[in-house]
Amino acid sequence: KAAAVAPVALGVSGPAWAAPDPLAFDRDAYTVLTTTVPTAIGLKEVTYHFYRAVTYVTKPVDAKYQCLNVSVPVEIDGKPVDANGAPILFSNSVGGYLPSSVADAPGVGGPPRPGPPGGTRADNATLALAAGYVVVEPGARGRTLVDANGTFHGTAPAAIVDLKAAVRYVRYNKGRIPGNTERIVTTGVSAGGALSSLLGASGDSPHYATWLRELGAAQASDAVFASAAYCPIIDLEHADMAYEWNWGENPLSSGATVDPAVSRELRTAFTDYQASLRLKGKNGFGTLTAGNYGDYLTRTHLRPAATKYLRALAADDRTTYLAANPWLEWNADKADFTWADFLRHVGPRKKKAPAFDAFDLSSPENNLFGTGTTQARHFTRYSLRKSTGDDNARLDRDLPAKLGLMNPMHSLEQRLPGRARHWWIRVGTLDTDTSLTVVGNLASAAENLGDDVNAAMYWDAGHGANEDAAEFITWIGEITD
Ligand code: DHB
Repeated sequence: KAAAVAPVALGVSGPAWAAPDPLAFDRDAYTVLTTTVPTAIGLKEVTYHFYRAVTYVTKPVDAKYQCLNVSVPVEIDGKPVDANGAPILFSNSVGGYLPSSVADAPGVGGPPRPGPPGGTRADNATLALAAGYVVVEPGARGRTLVDANGTFHGTAPAAIVDLKAAVRYVRYNKGRIPGNTERIVTTGVSAGGALSSLLGASGDSPHYATWLRELGAAQASDAVFASAAYCPIIDLEHADMAYEWNWGENPLSSGATVDPAVSRELRTAFTDYQASLRLKGKNGFGTLTAGNYGDYLTRTHLRPAATKYLRALAADDRTTYLAANPWLEWNADKADFTWADFLRHVGPRKKKAPAFDAFDLSSPENNLFGTGTTQARHFTRYSLRKSTGDDNARLDRDLPAKLGLMNPMHSLEQRLPGRARHWWIRVGTLDTDTSLTVVGNLASAAENLGDDVNAAMYWDAGHGANEDAAEFITWIGEITD
């Protein structure tokens, strides 16, 4: 029970010290909800306290987005639970870098996200609740929001600033929001996975301070304990090069064609970029380069993913799969194939070239880097020059800093003491929304810093897959300092 507080008369003429703290979480403002959660060990009946649409800054630009929901389990299968020391799952629902509001969510798990069968974003939240964890679901502004004057106010870095403000709010309310604020674990999918990894990489970075101050964010740390990223769409200013390196030879799923000169130029530029990162592969692989990265992914992630997938199949289904995929060798219960085999197997690529900084400014990312009344901008020199025809064209002056604020790779290079030390990284092997090196580099960068990284791929799974939510929930319970 909350400590007894002497009642204070709050009149307009009251003393300043008596003013209520606008960022104090009201423990009593909940509704009681119940949900039935299917888990690996059967259905769990969960009763929880649900706090809806709590504004997490004092000067919101749009409170419909800058608010969060909190779910606190109080009873599971008829037994009371005490969530006061429980981990806090901080689950964003950002997709496509679009605005994401939780203000109308009916309960934990938020609105269902379209995705392949076998798992969704909502699974992490509902399973966390059934495990006795506290679930915080923050909303955030997104790239399409525009005010009455035609000014875009949800473009970069709005979403990450909002999510950081939400983390600060949770920390600030330590002891009021149940749960252990030193065990905040972020999760998200795709653009939401990008933001989750960015929260992990940029904990307490000073570079967001002015943006946070402008919103009236709580004065507290925005560091998080662990970060989970599903198919994170990150490293945007280098993703066009990486995309052509990975999927450049694959045909387009739309049937349209890719300009081979553009694909070749970007693919060539990837060599220098990858070398500049000086990342080491795990298990003593050595420095990751454009020349060896396919082999690295094949050994470290693809074959293990195929092996796990095929071992889990019933014998008949495995025989059928192997007959349909004769390029895959199955020896001693292990999958064997080459990077070239794998690329042919994946088939069509999803995106045109360039995949992210479109010459015609039509990509979601062009909009993400819009500003003021400008809806979309180039954010790579390559696409800027190609589209303007001006070899001396320069990116707008504000862009380098904003690219840095949106890119966890930059923050990881800074080795911030406030970064997350535990990472859960997942992507489906059929996901051609970005290059597999983008995900691979995130994992390697954190590994090279000595952090604890649990990275794996889901064989034959597409964009947004989450096939081991139960393992993730277990992992949260196991990670310690
Ligand atoms: C998402 C997917 C993309 O391909 C992209 O470029 C950005 C975001 C998403 O699903 O969130």
